[in-house]
Order: sequence, then structure tokens, then C-alpha cells
Amino acid sequence: IGKIFLPIEKLMKIITTIDDLKPLYKRRVPKMFYDYTIGGSWTEQTLRENISDFNKLYFRQRVAVDISNRTTKTKLIGQDATMPVALAPVGLTGLQHPDGEIKAAKAAEEFGVPFTLSTMSICSIEDVAKNTSKPFWFQLYCMSDRPFIENLIDRAKEAKCSALIITLDLQILGQRHKDIKNQMTAPPKLTLKNIMNMATKPKWCLGMMGTKRHGFANIVGHASGVKNLTSLSEWSANNLLRTLNWDDLDWMIKRWGGKVILKGIQDVEDAKMAVKTGADAIVVSNHGGRQLDGALSSIRSLPSIIDAVGGKIEVWVDGGIRSGQDVAKAVSLGAKGVMIGRPFIYGLGAMGQGGVTKALEIIQKELDTTIALCGEQSVENMSRKNLLIPKDFRGNWE
Ligand code: GLV
Repeated sequence: IGKIFLPIEKLMKIITTIDDLKPLYKRRVPKMFYDYTIGGSWTEQTLRENISDFNKLYFRQRVAVDISNRTTKTKLIGQDATMPVALAPVGLTGLQHPDGEIKAAKAAEEFGVPFTLSTMSICSIEDVAKNTSKPFWFQLYCMSDRPFIENLIDRAKEAKCSALIITLDLQILGQRHKDIKNQMTAPPKLTLKNIMNMATKPKWCLGMMGTKRHGFANIVGHASGVKNLTSLSEWSANNLLRTLNWDDLDWMIKRWGGKVILKGIQDVEDAKMAVKTGADAIVVSNHGGRQLDGALSSIRSLPSIIDAVGGKIEVWVDGGIRSGQDVAKAVSLGAKGVMIGRPFIYGLGAMGQGGVTKALEIIQKELDTTIALCGEQSVENMSRKNLLIPKDFRGNWE
């Protein structure tokens, strides 16, 4: 609890892991938004195994190798990056911290990694573009209102976004008990319970009073007939494209005309279909354990997908990454990059833009030291030779 009252400069020194950010985040942000971040669907088995399966991979320690000239730099879909990490699209980020998407995008651009803006963001595409200086990526949900999707794609182009990430694993929302019980809305309803909880988060309240950005700005006023939207679950119940198929991706990709990343792939057959769309990359993902609970962890799904399509398309992974060591393991298995969601949200909620920078610094430092102790000079040299992979890692089932 002492940590909570320390000035930010002191805090910066004692926060040395992503997990250190979590209690501070919990202290500072209303319960419904904290729960939204940390939660998964149903029993949260996949959420837990996304994390614990990383512990089943071991590094091969190598010694007496020149490691004086190390680098974590790489290229992600052809774009320079300080490390093979991008900020994942996270809905409602602007309710974790005032103007949260703008703050996170600024931290990412200063650090030299991509930031992805969610369709379900609080700050709009135009707002983030106006308040940042480098192109960011835009994430698209496939919704049934085609003119609205066309318009979103055009808006992302106009804002000079440098990649479109199309999310494929959310045609229906996984049931998340925490969000249902909290009756989460954006902005929060002023019920007695919420007011009492928000009263314990004075900094958050003051910050939110100082900004006008409280609702789903990419949607309200843009989707036909949507003048007032507060609930993610209501929106997804009525607007997601239940009939989505691979042909739908053709027109979206053509209309966009730039770099495309398909996110939410867990299966080799789907990965092969994704290659046929001409996308530049896929993200092996189970939506951070928020969709199909009981699905395989992302890191376990990764190797067979890389073996099937890794030579044809960049394969990325997200889910369960909480350290630079996890990044090193994913990259060693053959992932070109990883996405992080919760780690940067913990930082943002705990300390705003500086907290996102802190999260990125923690991960980069861990990654750098890990590759050094594996006897490598560059993150790009990491491969399966650097890992001990259990024989049953891909499962031993029919
Ligand atoms: C939406 O993307 C969510 O996972 O809440």
C-alpha cells in the first residue's frame, strides 16, 4: 500500500516488473474497468494457460560468446521497430486513463513500437491522428453495417494509419462474468455502487472531468442511427457480422489497399486460408482468453501454425506475454512479433503515458538481457535452437 502514495519518480525506481504495475493500476482505476482488463471468458482457463504455458519452455543458456553489440531492433511488416512488440488494440482504453489512447500512442511512438487503435476506442481515429506525429495501426471489427465499415476503412486511410488489423475471433462476444456483474458501460452509470467506488479514485475522477472523451467516438455519430452507445455487450449483440466468411475479407482488404494483419487465428487450416487473402501477417491469438475459453493457449498454438505458413506470411502471437522473456520465447519459436495488451494497460492505468513507457522499458530490458544470456547479439537471431521445447508442447491428442 505504501507504493500507492509514493511520488511518481520514486515509483518509477521501484517498479521493476509488469506485475508491479498491477496493484497500482487496481488502486487507481474504477473496478469495472480494472475487471474488464484483467478478466477473461467463463472459467478463465485459457486466460491462465496463456500465461502458464510460457513456463513450459526453457532457454538454452550459452556462455563465452561476444554479446557486446546487442540489439532488440527488428522490422514488423516492413516497418522499423525498437523491439518485436506492438501495442494491441484494447477497447475502452480512454476510460483507463483520461485520453488513454492518445497517451498510449504517444508513448509507443516515442519508444518506436506500433500502437493499434481499437474500433471500440474512446478517442477517435481523427483525434489520435491529430495528437500524434507518427502513423499508428487501426483495428477493425467486422460488423454488419457495411457502409459503416467502408467509412471506418476510409477514415483510417485518411488518418494515414499504416496497417489495418482485422479481428476475426469476435463474431459473437465471449461471456465475461465480471463485466456482466459490473454492468460495465462507457461512461459508467452513476449508480450508488459506482459512485462509491469512483470516490476512492480521486485522480481518475479529476482527470475524467478534465476531458470530453468518454464515449465510443469511432462509432457514435458515424454508424447510422447510433446517437448514444454506452454498452460494449449491447453493441456486439446487435452489430457484429455473424455471417462473416473469407470472401468478406476480399472487399475489405481491397478497399484498404495497404498493409493488412489478420488477428485471432488459432488453427492451421484457418492460417492457410488467411495466407490466401494476401494479408501481410497473422496474429495467433485467442483474444487474451476473452473469447473461446477452453481453447489452446496462444503460445502452444503458435509452433504448428509457423510450421504450416511461417515461410509465406509473418506470424505473430499475443496472449499471456508479461515479460521480455516471454517475448524472447515467442520470437525463438518463430514469431516475427508479439502484441501486448494488459501489460501496457496496467502501466497506463497506474501512471498514464509514463506508465506505458515504463512497461515498454521493462519488457525491452528483460528481452535484451535474455538474448544476451542465450548468447545472441540480435533478437532476430533467436530461433528454436535457443529453446528447450517439451515434446508434448503441441499437445498429444487425436
Ligand atoms: C473486445 O475487444 C474485448 O475483448 O473486450
